[in-house]
Amino acid sequence: MSALTQDVKVVVIGAGAMGSGIAQVAARAGHTVYLFDGRAEAIAAGRAAIEKDLKFLVSKNRLDQGEAAATLERVVPVATLAEAADAGLAIEAIVENLDVKRKLFAELESMLGADAIIASNTSSLSINAMAAGLARPGRLVGLHFFNPAPRMALVEVVSGLATDREVAECLYATARAWGKVPVHAASTPGFIVNRVARPYYAEALRVLAEHEASPATLDAILREGCGFAMGPFELMDLIGHDVNFAVTKSVFEAYFCDRRFAPSPLQQELVAAGRLGRKTGRGIYEYGELAAKALP
Ligand code: NAI
Repeated sequence: MSALTQDVKVVVIGAGAMGSGIAQVAARAGHTVYLFDGRAEAIAAGRAAIEKDLKFLVSKNRLDQGEAAATLERVVPVATLAEAADAGLAIEAIVENLDVKRKLFAELESMLGADAIIASNTSSLSINAMAAGLARPGRLVGLHFFNPAPRMALVEVVSGLATDREVAECLYATARAWGKVPVHAASTPGFIVNRVARPYYAEALRVLAEHEASPATLDAILREGCGFAMGPFELMDLIGHDVNFAVTKSVFEAYFCDRRFAPSPLQQELVAAGRLGRKTGRGIYEYGELAAKALP
């Protein structure tokens, strides 16, 4: 199965951390990308984040100035979803909530052409549960990017029981054409990466709760000693504790409350306090100027 051609338009719904990064990836690969969000200010912020990162890449000689300008030009903000009705691929990156996503998919299905593919960037929710309400569940597939999407190579292409094989293979080929390293995964809770990662975060949070070591020490050990690009607390601050907590709860519940996947009360408290990580300037660490810096 071949990749989507560049003339296929893409609509990205949700212009937050992941949606803006995914829009950047698709636009850089040559697609016109409609960028939509329920909040107008998020669309502007998402496009500004793309512009900032493209400028950063140009400043590091990793991107040609002309290509950066053309990429940005291909990101088209839209105020309503109806303006994106001619998209051949919709990628959803909205809040990690099944009911909200289902509502969006129903709207997308009524609006898009019969052959359009609908992809979800969900971290952990069931593709089967999302597809259940659709008239054509075969066109729904998980397309799980990692944060930050323009830098991270891995993409999980997640098939539900009803996902058409051609749809999954087309997105696998498309992700490759976009410079990513795709893998096929089945729709199981957390797929592969987020299933394996839950006990990893949980153990780091337990060590912290038991006052065995500081976050900085734990991060340094896992970064310097084990070769991770970021330690667990640095990574949770990047992901956002709201998102990470929602994913943890979802995986925990989906595995019938298996204790291996239990969320930490500390995550809950961070979310309750609004200390969501880099995006609010404070999570496990404090940021300020650091949060304002472009991605490394
Ligand atoms: P975010 O909070 O940065 O952005 C979400 C955006 O969606 C917000 O701008 C919000 O206004 C918008 N939104 C919410 N409901 C909407 C609706 N019904 N219609 C239109 N727009 C709506 O969240 P983030 O981190 O970008 O996560 C988005 C999705 O990507 C979630 O499903 C999350 O689990 C997944 N994900 C997150 C990763 C991360 O590291 N943050 C990594 C991989 C996947």
